[in-house]
Amino acid sequence: TMDAGGGLRTPIVAVLGHVDHGKTSLLDKVRGSAVTSGEAGAITQHIGATAVPLETISDIAGRLVDPDDFDLPGLLFIDTPGHHSFSTLRSRGGALADIAVLVVDVNDGFQPQTLEAIDILKRTQTPFIVAANKVDTTPGWNPQPDTPIQQSLEAQSDRAEQRLNQNLYEIIGELSDNGFSADMYWRVQNFRGNIGVVPVSAETGEGVPDLLAVLMGLSQRYMKEDMSIDTTGPGSGTVLEVKEERGFGTTLDVVLYDGTIRTDDTVVVGAKNDPIVTDVRALLQPQPLAEIRTEKRFEKVDEVSAAAGVKIAAPDLDDALAGAPVRVVRNQSVEAVIEEVEAEL
Ligand code: GTP
Ligand code: MG
Repeated sequence: TMDAGGGLRTPIVAVLGHVDHGKTSLLDKVRGSAVTSGEAGAITQHIGATAVPLETISDIAGRLVDPDDFDLPGLLFIDTPGHHSFSTLRSRGGALADIAVLVVDVNDGFQPQTLEAIDILKRTQTPFIVAANKVDTTPGWNPQPDTPIQQSLEAQSDRAEQRLNQNLYEIIGELSDNGFSADMYWRVQNFRGNIGVVPVSAETGEGVPDLLAVLMGLSQRYMKEDMSIDTTGPGSGTVLEVKEERGFGTTLDVVLYDGTIRTDDTVVVGAKNDPIVTDVRALLQPQPLAEIRTEKRFEKVDEVSAAAGVKIAAPDLDDALAGAPVRVVRNQSVEAVIEEVEAEL
């Protein structure tokens, strides 16, 4: 499970970027599954949450991630859609995240939704790194499947490396135009003041070990410095989707970012009119590495701890709002929690 034994909760990583720059493909590479191929028009229309346990991360990252160096249980990735019409979903993903990956196609560079994502990250003060994706499309590229990027660069001709570097320096220039000092990630000492750029390919897996290693390093430091999250307190989350689920009626897909939620807990949910007060009938969770959006078989669980994607089944959820807060009522009056939820809407 993804329980935070040491007390650090699972960091939430939002994946943001322009349409078709490879957000879902990068997560697919990490998941080893192909969500992309099952999607209508290969456009991601909903936010999904994918839990990747520490073990899997260290399997993929090899020598770049020693599991003994980390107290983090893993990473919870939130995929967001790049299409221009889904800006609310992008904001919701950005606002929830502890850290983010901004995916930029190395050939395409900065595009409208790249800039929109940067604005969200600035506004929410979310630390991020840039995944400069599709390095394999560089003319003359010699693919080195699943290897760390610096090793792959050693296998490239001078000409291919120069072409890639030219594109990478354009991205670094764009970041600087937007007020961020940036450099190749291996030259960055302080990831809070500087943006690390990680060249990757979702197609060949080159640079994916580096991407995971940098995300782990960033979250471990960031969570340690800034977060004293109590994963045992009453749960707080955000509704990603309100969905009909056969056998359960209307359910909520929620990202729980703090505390725990249990079966039979009373919860307050933001809704079209007054907040809904209801009791949790069932908590449904996909297995780690499964995708909450496409995974049909959920496991019924008694308790879920942050951070996690969870489906909540409960009576009276029809008027719940996507993007609204969900709060567990525990050691507090229902009225007080309703006030909190109303204040956040
Ligand atoms: P939206 O969800 O619509 O915003 O797009 P996305 O950013 O999730 O992009 P997606 O992963 O769907 O990829 C778009 C296209 O780019 C697909 O055809 C992928 O196969 C292709 N692609 C993604 N990453 C790479 C890569 O590293 N190399 C190459 N050659 N193609 C890639
Ligand atoms: Mg996508």
